[in-house]
Amino acid sequence: MGDGIRFRFDFSLVGESNLRGGDGIAAPDFRKMMALVDDAVDTLSGKHRRGEIGFPDLPFLEREARAISRDAAALRAKCTHLLVLGIGGSALGTKAVHEAVGGAGRPGMALSVGDNVDPDAFFPLLAKLPMKKTVVAAISKSGGTAETNAQLALAIAALKKAVGKRWRERLILVTDPSRGVFRRMADAEGLKNYAVPPNVGGRFSVLSPVGLFPLAAAGVRVERLLAGAAQMEAIFRHTKGTDNPIRFAAAVYAYYLLVKPKATQVWFTYGAGLDRIAEWWQQLWGESLGKEREGRSPVGQTPARAVGVTDQHSQLQLYQDGPADKVFTFVRWMTGREKGNVPKAGFAPDMAMLGGRPLRDLFDAEFEGTIGALWSAGRPIVRMEIGKRDEEHVGAFLHFWEWVTAIAGTCAGVDPFDQPGVEEGKRISRALMGEKGTEAIRADFAEKISRIRRAEIRIGEDLSGPALRRKGRK
Ligand code: PA5
Repeated sequence: MGDGIRFRFDFSLVGESNLRGGDGIAAPDFRKMMALVDDAVDTLSGKHRRGEIGFPDLPFLEREARAISRDAAALRAKCTHLLVLGIGGSALGTKAVHEAVGGAGRPGMALSVGDNVDPDAFFPLLAKLPMKKTVVAAISKSGGTAETNAQLALAIAALKKAVGKRWRERLILVTDPSRGVFRRMADAEGLKNYAVPPNVGGRFSVLSPVGLFPLAAAGVRVERLLAGAAQMEAIFRHTKGTDNPIRFAAAVYAYYLLVKPKATQVWFTYGAGLDRIAEWWQQLWGESLGKEREGRSPVGQTPARAVGVTDQHSQLQLYQDGPADKVFTFVRWMTGREKGNVPKAGFAPDMAMLGGRPLRDLFDAEFEGTIGALWSAGRPIVRMEIGKRDEEHVGAFLHFWEWVTAIAGTCAGVDPFDQPGVEEGKRISRALMGEKGTEAIRADFAEKISRIRRAEIRIGEDLSGPALRRKGRK
């Protein structure tokens, strides 16, 4: 499989022959799903040919990646810290890759990501950065996200205070090539900027300048990230039927999406940095698939994450003995980095089996044991093992999931690339902040809220308020 990448995708424990309790996929159903996947791939290939979707092209942006790496190296010579401002698809991919490859240990800028406007988090973050040595990368595909605009204004003020008129040299915008507030600002102020391809949406954009620039600045080898994704793309294009891991996975997940439309998919991750990838995947899966469908019931699978071994001691009981409404994906690195052994002596007789063993043996036993426990409870499980904790493998894995998500969504009859719910939330927040021309949205929202029958209890506040009113005493 491929030149440099190594993966194991194991679907054995979703097959009916291996799974008691009715949650396994029967062979005829699987064949039907594969046919649906073939149709979905044809639909998506048509969209790709017509230029409507662009994520399959991103692995081949080698020239852009090299240019970005050169720019990042020049910045690294002058500055020590990078502050990324962005939210959702403009932040999660960067966080995921950085942590997955162990970016904090790389000889790059120290990376901070501000993906929240909680003042108690954002102000301390700004205050702790040495602004004289900090580059700010504000990332917004649309340029119209209020959170990122507010953060940007604060960051510019901090830059001006630190470096005066040279603030422009310290600010980089990543945004749409022709539209939006950020684009207008970049053009008006003559700011260094990178364009996000118009046909690539936020959660599919980690391999565009959205992720490439901050990651390169933080010392991640972005050319290798793309090289891994390109290998996965080649496997996808040139492998047929059930030998194709993307098609196989899409058929499995689309099956559960259609048969159990209210199910949760839980990712159990075993290995440093993988929980951040799970966080990236949660957005990809949730925002791409959770949709209304015309004439059919809504669809979606709640994406949840659990950290193995930690969450075996908190969530596993529910997953094993609670309702059978979940699908499990176990993800781990095939080989970890650390090799230490547990001391030989000093264990109580009951724990003697631990003496002198690599700690990894215990970690692996936890992985296998948890799968075994869920399997004996009849739960459907997919195992994914990633060859190595490096850029190539992480790039390939992210690209794999982008395709699986796009195909599963198309099979389920939704548009995996839109996010009407998120846009609605953004529209209401902007209106509540007093955006010009949104009086009607504000009035409509206020009217809806006024119809809520209050049932709230306040402690330590004015008790002539809602609590008493509710009891009809006022
Ligand atoms: O996936 C998406 O499209 C969204 O999650 C966006 O990434 C998020 O809302 C931020 O949007 P923008 O990059 O336009 O600021």
